[in-house]
Amino acid sequence: MDHDRWLAELSEFLRIPSISTLPAHDADCRRAAEWVARDLRRLGCREVSFLGSETHPVVWGVGPEVPGAPTLLIYGHYDVQPPDPLNEWTTPPFEPSVRDGRIYARGAADDKGQVFCLLRAMEVSGTPPVNLHFMIEGEEEYGSKVLFDLLRREPERTRADVALVADMSYVAPGWPAVYTTLRGMCYAEITVRTAKHDLHSGEYGGAAPNAHEELCRLLSRLKSPDGKINIPGLYAAVKAPSARERALWKRLPFREKEFLNRRVQAKALTGLKGRSVFERLWALPTFEIHGITGGFTGVGAKTVIPAEATAKVSLRLVPNQKMKTVERQLAAAVKRLVPKYVTATVRFLHGADPAQVRIDHPAFQLLDRAFHDIVGRGTVAARAGGSIPVVPALGRQGAPVLLTGIGLPDDRLHAPDEKLDLQQLWDGVQVFQRFFELLARNGIGRE
Ligand code: BES
Ligand code: MN
Ligand code: MN
Repeated sequence: MDHDRWLAELSEFLRIPSISTLPAHDADCRRAAEWVARDLRRLGCREVSFLGSETHPVVWGVGPEVPGAPTLLIYGHYDVQPPDPLNEWTTPPFEPSVRDGRIYARGAADDKGQVFCLLRAMEVSGTPPVNLHFMIEGEEEYGSKVLFDLLRREPERTRADVALVADMSYVAPGWPAVYTTLRGMCYAEITVRTAKHDLHSGEYGGAAPNAHEELCRLLSRLKSPDGKINIPGLYAAVKAPSARERALWKRLPFREKEFLNRRVQAKALTGLKGRSVFERLWALPTFEIHGITGGFTGVGAKTVIPAEATAKVSLRLVPNQKMKTVERQLAAAVKRLVPKYVTATVRFLHGADPAQVRIDHPAFQLLDRAFHDIVGRGTVAARAGGSIPVVPALGRQGAPVLLTGIGLPDDRLHAPDEKLDLQQLWDGVQVFQRFFELLARNGIGRE
């Protein structure tokens, strides 16, 4: 394995700032798609095409045909989240830098590094022993609209014997995982307007309503200090995890103290009282405020009563909840919680239904064996707190969906100093190569 060359190639991929949510980076997203397409062609893929969009195309690639062998659909994404706050990065987010055996860059773990890992697994396979279908999208971090539209038109794209999604992490160093659920998402902007225009805070202060004050009050009513979300009906569909599943969680390598001190690095954990951390992370909905804009936020001081304020918020949804229902519930709750003299509007930006997958298909045993053979431990089953919008649709053609990954829990996805441990990457290449072999040898998908 040519680690130096691979590192240079991965760095080239990571240098492209393919931030899908920012229109200013449309051309960069396109360049990242081209990078993936070029690599697929070099690896011997026959059909390599761009589907669905000029700027954030789904990159589709079909590996050499292996008659009689199973078909493995490989999903990943080449887009990344915005890198800010920039001043909290040790080295710039789009100038990949290797320190202590880790590569630091936006996208290192989520998900360019993992896409790269799968591409190298194909490379070391020579002629892969299975039929590989690649579906690498460029809008995962913005709700996957392009891919959803594509799958509505061409659902047969996901026809395969097995689907593999490597966009997650081990549950702890040395502990590879497969995931049984992902949370869904409902992302919205809540805007409140209190007057026609901004007002002098001396002339009008004391008598005129203030948009920021109203927005703060609204937001604080939407979730109480004990972590309960105050949206009528929200918890109705939420199912408590079974006693059996909770018992399995107790066996996972996890210490709350370490989670607080080493990963969260805050002074306390928050959330619903009486519920375990795993339950709060995996089996309960959340409400988060991502940012608040409006009013005066420049340097210096301006004495103004803002007429408008906006909060970007999102809810994470758990299995059995529906994104469309939650959208209605949030809009209704906002309406109910603002006073009559305030105009509140809710604009939904993107979302996803939660995903739940069965892990009893024989392919899961093969993935377990592949990890076991290469890293010395098989996969443990866990749930994931994050979301991957397309996952419910990926399994709709009947293929089992293997949710796994080669990252580590401290990779800092979406945050400053995102990284990927290089040993995880090199191991991952071998794990996936081995998995391809096992799939071929075990005749998965053949009658
Ligand atoms: N790879 C993550 C999802 C993830 C993270 C799963 C951690 C499990 C554990 C993915 O790239 C992601 O961040 N998705 C977004 C989706 C959203 C924008 C619709 C997310 O979860 O915020
Ligand atoms: Mn991802
Ligand atoms: Mn992500």
